[in-house]
Amino acid sequence: MLKKTFLAVDIGNKNIKAVWGCYGKQAITVLEYDIVKSPDNMINDGKITDIEAVASTIKEIIKRNRIKAGKLIMNISGTGVITREVQLPKSTDEEIDNILKYDAQQYFPVDLDNYVMDFRVLDESSANSDNMCRVLLVAVPLKQADEYMKIAEKLNMDMEAIDIPANSITKLLFGIDNTKAACFTDKGIEEFVVLDIGADTTGVYIYHKGKLMFNRILLMGSREIDRYISNNMEVDSENAEKIKLERGRIFNEDEELNEPFESVSLCNSMKPAVNSLIIDINRLVDFYISRSSFGRIEKIYICGGGSQLQGLDKYIGSYFNVPVEFLHKFLSLEYKGKKSKDKLVAEFVYLANVTGALVRE
Ligand SMILES: Nc1ncnc2c1ncn2[C@@H]1O[C@H](COP(=O)(O)OP(=O)(O)OP(=O)(O)O)[C@@H](O)[C@H]1O
Ligand SMILES: [Mg+2]
Repeated sequence: MLKKTFLAVDIGNKNIKAVWGCYGKQAITVLEYDIVKSPDNMINDGKITDIEAVASTIKEIIKRNRIKAGKLIMNISGTGVITREVQLPKSTDEEIDNILKYDAQQYFPVDLDNYVMDFRVLDESSANSDNMCRVLLVAVPLKQADEYMKIAEKLNMDMEAIDIPANSITKLLFGIDNTKAACFTDKGIEEFVVLDIGADTTGVYIYHKGKLMFNRILLMGSREIDRYISNNMEVDSENAEKIKLERGRIFNEDEELNEPFESVSLCNSMKPAVNSLIIDINRLVDFYISRSSFGRIEKIYICGGGSQLQGLDKYIGSYFNVPVEFLHKFLSLEYKGKKSKDKLVAEFVYLANVTGALVRE
């Protein structure tokens, strides 16, 4: 019997990523995937300003790759999406649903009439309080959710789910039931950070023993570097990005002596942007650590197009004084599409959160 397949889509500020596939027996099957540039100025901080343009870009992806998925899964992001982590008495999903109907408002500083709510149980066996569970509450602005539903309508597809990147990344790392948590604890890594560095946003996700403990979207990404290059070198933003992609490399001052003048000068143009991103990330990490009992980050995994800036892994590593690695998959993944497997591996940095969205019961 042919398994149900889904098309998972992540509408980024810079690139739309789509992965067609399914999940079963702790393995992801990718039938095809594609990454295309988002229509210019049509997406802003997760909100879609031109539904028609975005839908037709996705239609094009479907046509070109002969995608035949019945149902759609979309990642929704942006600073308008609010998440809160709360402790609730251990309950079934239905009971939590009921609790939220009456109590949700106390957790959110906004009028929830304008939001759609959802939740995910993060941790049922909280060590010190046996009758409580940690629940991640998500509130998506109605208008934004509506834009995503309209995209599904235009594509003539049923919406299976709207997910948030933090949840998708978690599922990519650990599967649905945390089955893969051992991958990390076996290596002695209990606490780590995942950074999804996009064009305009950076997702910061912190895990402890296989559980998502903290998640936040920063409104700053790789495009900030383009702005600095553009100002310093007096080129337009398109050319600034080109320079970044072709020649950009970031390194510490002690390496400057071994570098040609041009790369030092370019590195110095980019540095304020990179540093301010790192400082913002550090602020969140500090905030998390100040409240956690473990109090130490052991590793950082990076993904998103912006993570590919040459030298960035090492630069982040020396700032936080921990090893930095590109996020790879921990679930097994089989690719059955027409592109080469090497290409998928090379481009996986863009696909982490959209691939995780495929992981479902
Ligand atoms: N080799 C590279 N060096 C530096 N930056 C790169 C490189 N390759 C891609 N980028 C940057 O990555 C960004 C795009 O990454 P990505 O597709 O993950 O963003 P997005 O998901 O569309 O944005 P957002 O997450 O903010 O919505 C662009 O800003 C691009 O310039
Ligand atoms: Mg992104």
